[in-house]
Amino acid sequence: MNNIWLKIIILSLIYIDVYATSLQQELQRHWQQPLATQGEPPSDLTSLETSLEPKDCATCHPTQFKDWSQSLHSHAMGAGMIGQLVDMQAHATKQHQACIRCHAPLQEQAVSLVNSLLGNSSTNLHQQGVICAACHIREYKWYGPHKNGQPTANDMQKLPHNGWQSTPIFKDAQFCSVCHQFKPEEYSLNGKLLENTYEEWKASRYATENKTCQDCHMPDRRHLWRGIHDPDMVKQGVEIKNTDFKQLYNIITAKLTIKNTGTGHYFPTYVTPKVIIEGYQEDKNEKLLPETKQQYIISRKVAMNLSKELADTRLAPDEKVTFDYNAKRHPEATSFILNVQVEPDAFYTKFYQITLKNGSAKKGKKLLQEALEQSQQSNFSIYFRKQSLR
Ligand code: HEC
Ligand code: HEC
Ligand code: HEC
Ligand code: HEC
Ligand code: HEC
Repeated sequence: MNNIWLKIIILSLIYIDVYATSLQQELQRHWQQPLATQGEPPSDLTSLETSLEPKDCATCHPTQFKDWSQSLHSHAMGAGMIGQLVDMQAHATKQHQACIRCHAPLQEQAVSLVNSLLGNSSTNLHQQGVICAACHIREYKWYGPHKNGQPTANDMQKLPHNGWQSTPIFKDAQFCSVCHQFKPEEYSLNGKLLENTYEEWKASRYATENKTCQDCHMPDRRHLWRGIHDPDMVKQGVEIKNTDFKQLYNIITAKLTIKNTGTGHYFPTYVTPKVIIEGYQEDKNEKLLPETKQQYIISRKVAMNLSKELADTRLAPDEKVTFDYNAKRHPEATSFILNVQVEPDAFYTKFYQITLKNGSAKKGKKLLQEALEQSQQSNFSIYFRKQSLR
């Protein structure tokens, strides 16, 4: 080969390698654990500009604030979480970190949590969960994605909070993995990490197509982060087909196929939700006839104390499963129902019930009671069909 071409190839390989390494380094710096404090606010900025409160970002970024407020990132320090933290020692900061490194990661939030456990609540920054600044501010420097059409240097000087450093990490799926992917040495069951969303994505066609977490969960850069708690999002992630309903003599048969067509990882990715496909018969008063009920559960089922995996029936990207209903017609049955029910917080419902019963919750008891009720209200159906029987 021509010498000059060889040089060009080698140089570009080095370039790609250096680029990848610097991206990794930047990600590592951005998400070092625990995060460093912001330090002293720069003196040339106003107190509005240096505030870490999401409601202050909202003064100038109202759309991002509105979307974020409705997302679970802003509710990451809900009753279920605080209810567990209040029974920890105020100065057990290592123990706090084991949870808040994902649920309220800024050092300023860690301090605010300690103060509140001591009874001096000066701020409630920790209660606001994964706040704007947790993703965007390090040592009072603002970071964000590249702008479409770079501002000129002159524009940059005039911007509030001295503009921002644009960096490719915001477009990278690894940006999300600090909190949505366990490290190889962290907790695993049956050879699979307890949180494995990034690796599931990486192994799928979505990674090859470069369709990232952000593309699905932040369409047009919107701060929505809809997931298993959102019926429309879940419907977008799967295709459901119901075929072959038959009523032969006194036997009822039906099939329902569910395929993971648009979820960029396992459906669902966590051990916490449960998806139930069920068929059953009803009498003329729409009362379920229990002995006619048959079901298939899609979930990664683990023991409550996380000691073992009991079953894993989740659907990998593009995988499908068919539920077969086959039962005698009940003498009182007038209709047949096929339903797909989603219980986003199934694991937590049980967990809160056990914790409240075994007495380990003390100061957090009331909050966990509240969390239990909330976890039971999140259930919904993504498919329902009623068939009258002849
Ligand atoms: C006084 C108004 C003001 C406040 C307060 C403010 N910003 Fe900004 N911010 C701006 C302006 C103006 C820009 C430049 C927008 C542009 O050019 O697209 C900007 C840019 C940004 C960018 C980069 C946008 C991009 O296209 O990549 C991020 C990220 C950001 N701000 C985050 C925050 C966060 C987080 C807070 C609160 C902690 C905050 N800002 C508070 C006015 C403000
Ligand atoms: C969990 C991390 C996370 C949180 C929390 C978060 N952002 Fe972002 N933000 C991102 C990512 C990632 C992008 C880039 C998305 C993309 O380019 O697809 C982004 C983009 C932006 C942009 C540029 C938007 C544009 O249209 O160019 C602004 C401004 C911004 N965020 C402000 C905020 C504000 C204000 C809040 C709080 C109300 C907030 N962010 C909370 C991760 C976050
Ligand atoms: C600092 C940690 C952190 C980062 C970074 C982060 N998340 Fe999250 N995310 C969480 C936590 C904690 C929750 C759960 C909140 C709760 O329900 O208490 C969550 C919830 C979610 C949910 C909703 C899940 C559901 O049950 O419906 C989605 C979707 C999501 N994140 C996507 C993303 C994406 C995409 C990114 C990257 C742009 C990202 N997250 C970055 C911590 C993080
Ligand atoms: C590696 C990141 C990470 C760590 C560490 C972590 N969580 Fe979470 N947590 C999450 C994510 C992501 C979700 C959302 C899961 C889902 O959608 O089902 C979540 C959900 C929850 C929920 C249910 C939603 C809610 O807010 O009520 C509770 C409770 C919870 N975590 C408590 C804890 C506790 C207690 C600890 C510490 C012992 C902890 N978490 C450590 C990432 C983390
Ligand atoms: C092709 C689109 C797509 C991509 C890519 C994608 N997701 Fe999802 N995600 C979905 C859909 C649809 C759901 C709702 C169905 C579900 O919960 O499985 C979902 C659900 C979730 C949930 C809710 C919890 C659960 O148990 O399912 C989290 C957290 C999440 N995604 C994080 C991520 C992260 C992190 C990435 C990148 C590594 C990512 N997603 C990539 C489409 C996508």
